[in-house]
Amino acid sequence: MIMSDKGNTLANQKVALITGASSGIGYETALAFARKGIHVVATARRVDKLGDLQKAVLQLPAGHGDILTVEADVTRREDMLNAVKLAVGRFGRLDILVANAGIGHRGKVADSEWADIETLLRTNIDGVIHSIQAAVPAMRQTGGGHILTISSVTYNLTAPYIAAYAASKAFVTSLSHSLRLELESDNIKVTDVLVGRTSTEFNQKRLGLGKRSGESLPTMAPSQVAAAIVRAAEGNPRSVVVRFFDRLIMLGNTLVPEMIGRIALRQYKS
Ligand SMILES: NC(=O)c1ccc[n+]([C@@H]2O[C@H](COP(=O)([O-])OP(=O)(O)OC[C@H]3O[C@@H](n4cnc5c(N)ncnc54)[C@H](OP(=O)(O)O)[C@@H]3O)[C@@H](O)[C@H]2O)c1
Repeated sequence: MIMSDKGNTLANQKVALITGASSGIGYETALAFARKGIHVVATARRVDKLGDLQKAVLQLPAGHGDILTVEADVTRREDMLNAVKLAVGRFGRLDILVANAGIGHRGKVADSEWADIETLLRTNIDGVIHSIQAAVPAMRQTGGGHILTISSVTYNLTAPYIAAYAASKAFVTSLSHSLRLELESDNIKVTDVLVGRTSTEFNQKRLGLGKRSGESLPTMAPSQVAAAIVRAAEGNPRSVVVRFFDRLIMLGNTLVPEMIGRIALRQYKS
């Protein structure tokens, strides 16, 4: 039996792999799982930021989960296969996948650089598929698991100027809902987490025509999203909307689709 540095028994203890754990929602989710005593496999490209996360986890009060950091680019299938292999090698199992890594894009689709749109699609779509295809065989080996996809409340919004991003999240949500039934017989749960505007590095790193977007909308802390992800992992919801405000946005979009879109159009144009 393997023991972690803090004395947690590694066998039979839950293990969560989180993509995009070097900042924002992924970073806070890794901390939140570790606080619950769950072992964390934190993946991203920036190893220095993963090192910061590792230090933060190891400073949590006694009883926290252990952490393994793995450099992995979600756009590279072999990186995700390797991350899962290392996770199983270290902890013996994989119970939870949080397919969180993602990037934004702003600009008219017709006028956008293809390179930006390609990066968006490779990250938000291919990245999620690579993560799921890597994780599922490991989950099957130990009798089940839970996949949480991180989507956006924009997924079905009429969303001019962020249309490519919103469409990439429509893919994620659609995939997540069907996957839930596909994986039911493997005892693998699937939950889609719909996130609204959150104060992370996301805005600064957004591809396309500038970084400003949705500035009049209220933001939430990434720790609030992380808490919702951990709660979802403790249950089995099909879908979670993190914040009440975002439910209202989604309802408004359903009732009067072009109203929200036209407000967004004015905001992004100015
Ligand atoms: N912030 C918001 O307002 C908001 C709203 C709705 C949904 N979301 C979704 O929430 C998720 C997390 O975003 P965030 O707000 O926490 O933004 P963030 O702070 O920018 O974090 C994004 C994470 O994704 C990782 N990442 C990006 N490209 C990657 C790649 N090719 N391979 C591996 N990792 C990659 C980044 O790590 P490295 O750069 O180190 O690789 C980083 O850890 C995304 O899916 C985003 O679409 C965010």
